[in-house]
This record gives sequence, structure tokens and C-alpha cells, in this order.
Amino acid sequence: MFALSFLTIALAAVPAFAAPARITGCPVPSSVLQVPTNQTQLVPPTTAPSYVGLGVGVQNYTCSAAGAYVTAGAYAELFDISCLYNTPSFANIQNDAYNIWNQLPASFNVASLIGVFRSLKNFDALGQHYFITNAAGGLSPKFDFTSTGKTSGNPNAYVVAAKVGDLPSPTGPQDVDWLELNGTAGKLASQVFRVNTKAGQPPSSCTPGSPLISVKYTAKYLFYGSTL
Ligand SMILES: *[C@@H]1O[C@H](CO)[C@@H](O)[C@H](O)[C@H]1NC(C)=O
Ligand SMILES: *[C@@H]1O[C@H](CO)[C@@H](O)[C@H](O)[C@H]1NC(C)=O
Ligand SMILES: *[C@@H]1O[C@H](CO)[C@@H](O)[C@H](O)[C@H]1NC(C)=O
Repeated sequence: MFALSFLTIALAAVPAFAAPARITGCPVPSSVLQVPTNQTQLVPPTTAPSYVGLGVGVQNYTCSAAGAYVTAGAYAELFDISCLYNTPSFANIQNDAYNIWNQLPASFNVASLIGVFRSLKNFDALGQHYFITNAAGGLSPKFDFTSTGKTSGNPNAYVVAAKVGDLPSPTGPQDVDWLELNGTAGKLASQVFRVNTKAGQPPSSCTPGSPLISVKYTAKYLFYGSTL
């Protein structure tokens, strides 16, 4: 009888202990987006973001005939960091993540970062960021949440965007620019901001004919105006 009561109590208590910590989809106020006051390139929305992401990946560059690296797209995994907001780790999460990413070998597959950050940080993946060829033959950034996380299976959970604002990183020229992107297709967001960047810049020169390089970087990505 004692054993049964104990088991009953233990089982009754399980849901409280077994419920995983909420790591995804926390509400975050509009004030999350802080830009330098003396600039006009980035215009923060007055609304709260729909998604707050951490991007971990690579910026790709090809070597021009003039011996300078030119941007050639990127690939990053995006993680939900909304529930870190209002915790001490939020402000520098891009630096913490970069330190982890930078210790992994150059051969490490970017897609495998999902497993790394799930086990180390308990992060849920939101989706992927990569570039697609646009109608004019150039590259357009795409943020694709159609096959990962809560939006998996929703064919509209993506946004293709175009750059409307570009600010050299306030943390210095070693970090890629902060960007404001406006959506041109998809329902994931009407605007995307890339801020709090860490690394990702190419070397200052290259030997013409040398192959594409991938430079590791991290950043926060804020998504606004989702109509999913
Ligand atoms: C903005 O202010 C920062 C910090 O005071 C300074 O480093 C930067 O040069 C300023 N930028 C412009 C465009 O004035
Ligand atoms: C960038 O490089 C990575 C490998 O480092 C690759 O997976 C990705 O497809 C590349 N993207 C583009 C647009 O070249
Ligand atoms: C980008 O989108 C914002 C929000 O809808 C809008 O206010 C702004 O005018 C757009 N910028 C451009 C260059 O279209």
C-alpha cells in the first residue's frame, strides 16, 4: 500500500518536473532592437518582433579579377533566442555562439550546428538563411523556416528580402555590417534586421583565381510583421 501511494505521488509529480523549460516563442518587446542614435541607415520598427533569432554560419566570398573579395552569399542556421531576452546571456549570445562555432573544425558542416546548439544551449532551430538567384541574376537573401521548428511544413514560412539599410558594425570593421532588409516574397516577415554581428569579414585582398572562401560569423536576426 505504501509502495503504491509512493508511486502514485511520484507519477503525479512527474509532469511538473518533466515539462521542458520553455526555450522557444517567448514575447519580446520592440525595445530589443537598439541601434546607434547617430545613424539614419536603420529605422527600427515600433512593433514587437515576430521572431528573435541567432544566426550561426558562414559568409561566402569569391576573389575578383582585381584581387578583392566580393560577397557571394551565405549560409546560416537560425536559432530561437526569444526566451533568453531579459536574461544575462542575451546581450552577448552572438559572441558566446561564435566562440563555440570558431572552435569547430573548418570541415564541420553548418547544418550540423542544429545538433551542437541543441545539446550545448538547449536552443530550438527556427530555420535556415541562404541566398537564391533572383530574376535579375543577382543573389537575394532568403530566410526559410519551412522545414524546421514550429513552422515546419508550412510552405509560406519563408521570406525573400532586399537590403534597404546598411550600417558598418558599431563594434568595428572586423564584424559584418548591420542590415535592414525588406521582404519581397513570403509570409514569414515583412522586415528583417541583422544586428549585433560578430566576425564574417574577408581578408583584405586575394589572389585572382583563388577559390570561394567561407568566413564564420554570428549575428542576431530580428523578424517583423509575420503574417503566417
Ligand atoms: C556614432 O557614434 C559612435 C560612438 O560615439 C562613433 O564611433 C561613430 O563614429 C558615430 N558615427 C557617425 C556616423 O557619426
Ligand atoms: C557558402 O559556403 C557553404 C560552405 O562553406 C555552402 O554550404 C553554401 O552553400 C555556400 N553558399 C553559397 C551561396 O555559395
Ligand atoms: C521597408 O519597409 C518598411 C516597413 O514596411 C517601410 O517603412 C520602408 O519604407 C521600406 N523601405 C523601403 C526602401 O522600401
